[in-house]
Amino acid sequence: FQSLKALALLYLSVGWFTITSPICCLVFYFRRVCDFHQPETLKAMLKELKITDEPASEDRLLNMCKDVIQYSVKTSNPRFFNQLYGSMNQYSLAGNWLTDALNPSMYTYEVAPVFTLMEDEIYSKMLHYVGFDGGDAIFVPGGSMGNMYGMNVARYAKFPEIKTDGLYAVKKPLCIFTSEKCHYSVTKSAALMGIGMNNIIFVKSDKIGKMIPDELERQIKEANEKGYEPFFVNATAGTTVLGAYDPLDEISDVCKKHGLWLHVDGAWGGSAAMSTKYRYLLKGIENADSMVWNAHKMMGVPQQCSIFLTKQKGIIMDCHSANASYLFQPDKNYDVSFDTGDKSVQCGRKVDVFKLWMLWKKEGDSGMESRIDHLFMLSRYLSDKLKKTPGFRLIQEPECTNVCFWYIPPSLRGQQETKEWWDKLAKVAPAIKAGMMQCGSMMIGYNPDGDLVNFFRMVLTNFDTTTEDMDFLVQEIDRLGRDL
Ligand SMILES: *Cc1c(COP(=O)(O)O)cnc(C)c1O
Ligand SMILES: *[C@@H]1O[C@H](CO)[C@@H](O)[C@H](O)[C@H]1NC(C)=O
Ligand SMILES: *[C@@H]1O[C@H](CO)[C@@H](O)[C@H](O)[C@H]1NC(C)=O
Repeated sequence: FQSLKALALLYLSVGWFTITSPICCLVFYFRRVCDFHQPETLKAMLKELKITDEPASEDRLLNMCKDVIQYSVKTSNPRFFNQLYGSMNQYSLAGNWLTDALNPSMYTYEVAPVFTLMEDEIYSKMLHYVGFDGGDAIFVPGGSMGNMYGMNVARYAKFPEIKTDGLYAVKKPLCIFTSEKCHYSVTKSAALMGIGMNNIIFVKSDKIGKMIPDELERQIKEANEKGYEPFFVNATAGTTVLGAYDPLDEISDVCKKHGLWLHVDGAWGGSAAMSTKYRYLLKGIENADSMVWNAHKMMGVPQQCSIFLTKQKGIIMDCHSANASYLFQPDKNYDVSFDTGDKSVQCGRKVDVFKLWMLWKKEGDSGMESRIDHLFMLSRYLSDKLKKTPGFRLIQEPECTNVCFWYIPPSLRGQQETKEWWDKLAKVAPAIKAGMMQCGSMMIGYNPDGDLVNFFRMVLTNFDTTTEDMDFLVQEIDRLGRDL
């Protein structure tokens, strides 16, 4: 950790960082979130980009390293609010570097003994938080992949013969249910798994983005009547844009009644399970069959760090195993049930556990809880502030740590909200975003959603972000948008 501090100091001497160092806690951040240039301009600025026939000197490599730092986005800056990840702490970073230095792969106990045991420890803790005790888990390369695991394991649970005979083994077309607000990974999974994008049934959600359980039940009945074979319902704990939590307890009742697997996409909002205060958002999760939970989002672990969890012990292995004899010899000199590689659809698997373990061990359960609570607190602080500040309009009360809102410049205030008015408002967020990219003061995403025109989607993921940063955000948007 001393060396990490030294590294930070080195950066300071180069002049890219400012360091605010409360005693030993290392909190460094870059002055600017980004130093943005158009692609062609940047290409011309990166003198060393091209690889040529000639070997390059170390000096030239170092020059390129400096450019990489200069022009990359500083996602660990406490004012990076653009996506659902971005925190950084020295313990996870150390875990990450050590992992890379050791360069292990997660298929067998013999090549990754410590990390195998470490994964088990993390699995049992996470399973416990969501009421899946005694279940099973695996690290996956991202939440989208975890959702696909959910779909594949669910299909295996109902039609194991598909593993050997393919989709030809089932007579009726399979179909799945998901909310209309779902992440696009469901569409990708359905396409890749041969279910077909047209066989995804989108269940209506209410005004605030939650799946409506009665609608789900109606759609399941309709699908049965049409000759479909439903097997999978995908619910969300924390939607990507609005941060809505589906009513898991009611949805799980519907699923039980119709014998469907319930998978919960908790990639974003699953971390609420660690908070006594906000766990209620996930009420009913213990009745689901599987879940994905991204530690690289709200838990603040560097990317990638995603875990697929299921209540059914052994099913991940049964569903995916292919018994490669050159890796998984049954007659090795140890208990080969510790060879977990065949649970994965990959062969080699990157070690993602150590950076999570380092942070969690350092913080303890209580420290992790206060991190999550801090982010929720900031989202509530910001939404309260926006309600009180002229020109800002909240889209809805936050559930997760997403705060979605419009900024209405003075030129548009107090007018009738006609179609033209909304068309004008739609251009405001992109203009403000361009302004902040230009000066690198912060980064925050915007998007339209359904019939809502472009609005800002503020997301809180960085433990170093403070209420002062929230105040700054409001001022900065006003500064950049006042004259539009
Ligand atoms: C981020 C996110 C995903 C995708 O996770 P990746 O790790 O980026 O693949 C899936 N679902 C939800 C709700 C998300 O917010
Ligand atoms: C489930 O829905 C969520 C969001 O609503 C989405 O992120 C995810 O991709 C979906 N996954 C599957 C496999 O249906
Ligand atoms: C792999 O081996 C296990 C245990 O011997 C067996 O149950 C399983 O069916 C095998 N899977 C494949 C794909 O051969």
